[in-house]
Amino acid sequence: MRTFVSRRVAAVPPSGIRRFFDIAATMKDVISLGIGEPDFVTPEPILKAGVESLLRGETHYTSNSGIFELRQALSDHLSRLYGVRYDPETELLISVGVSEALYLALTAVVDPGDEVIVPQPCFVAYAPEVVFAGGQPIIIPTYVVNEFQVTGDAVEAAVTPRTKAILIGYPNNPTGAVMTRERLLEIADVAERHDLLVISDEIYDRLVYGITQTCFPSLPGMRERTILLGGFSKDYAMTGWRVGYAAAPAELLAAMRKVHQYTIMSAPTTAQMAALTALKQGEEYVEAMRAEYDLRRRTIVNGLNQLGLDCFEPRGAFYAFPSIARSGMDDETFAQKLLEEERVAVVPGSAFGESGAGFVRCSYATALPKIEEALNRLERFMRRHG
Ligand SMILES: Cc1ncc(COP(=O)(O)O)c(C=O)c1O
Repeated sequence: MRTFVSRRVAAVPPSGIRRFFDIAATMKDVISLGIGEPDFVTPEPILKAGVESLLRGETHYTSNSGIFELRQALSDHLSRLYGVRYDPETELLISVGVSEALYLALTAVVDPGDEVIVPQPCFVAYAPEVVFAGGQPIIIPTYVVNEFQVTGDAVEAAVTPRTKAILIGYPNNPTGAVMTRERLLEIADVAERHDLLVISDEIYDRLVYGITQTCFPSLPGMRERTILLGGFSKDYAMTGWRVGYAAAPAELLAAMRKVHQYTIMSAPTTAQMAALTALKQGEEYVEAMRAEYDLRRRTIVNGLNQLGLDCFEPRGAFYAFPSIARSGMDDETFAQKLLEEERVAVVPGSAFGESGAGFVRCSYATALPKIEEALNRLERFMRRHG
């Protein structure tokens, strides 16, 4: 029998990060620095809002774009934080996480053969989603010397007549890099001169430490050529609720809404009601979680550097991305041996793109005592392998 799987889908390898979690799940006493989601439970008022909505019998579809009151609150939220205003009627869409919003953005804009520039290391879904949409991801590496920020020159060098968009994600998963405003202006300049769209995934926007998040569409001239993706999963510890959003000029948003209408209908009603409370009452909880992540961040980064696992200072999200050069191993072997010998799970950097090779992703979305114990185990490991 012939294979029925499309070439497009067959061409994409399965995600490299799951394999380690599967192995770790079969072991006892594993400390996981592998997981990419908050260890916090969703703050109580947000939880209650979801439960109460269910108890009121709100178990039906919402408008395709999402509950209007939520869109309105989101519009105010983006305006208050970043000074960029979106019309809740025509420029905002509530999605099933940033995952769906990313799919919608790429499906709505990519024609067969269009090129989308993707700086790596990055979230594992970016390049596959470009392929699923029928496009060609053009990978550009970022480097530790630039603290994993992408430069305007690197983007410029990758532009061809087929380039349609640049897909960036800062604060970054897996490196923790945050782009300075100056660096983002370089990207804006390239986008302007070559008439490109920018898709900016800012899902970790509130989790920044000692640096100000610059929202890409707030840069001069960028609102009209940006699709902003954002969410509730990370900032509000709501991964399981599956709710996020897209903000874009009306024509682009309408195209995305068309795809959403036919594939999803509407984001989960319960999650939308919870998200509304997150925007209205979540601020103090976001700040408390951010402060706790910051404490863990400083502990893990100092600890790694003391062990000779050189780690630049991550300024956002909840990941440290140390070089493991000192061990003499490649990142796959390092992660495998560390798991087998010391029962600490990390993710090889190469799972996020070739330029992540030689690094590992250590998530600090785990309690401080566990991070401290993981550092003790790493110390033993490095004494044997350093
Ligand atoms: C950079 C980035 N974008 C998007 C997502 C997906 O988030 P969501 O839960 O909103 O689908 C993740 C999840 O790990 C992520 O790290």
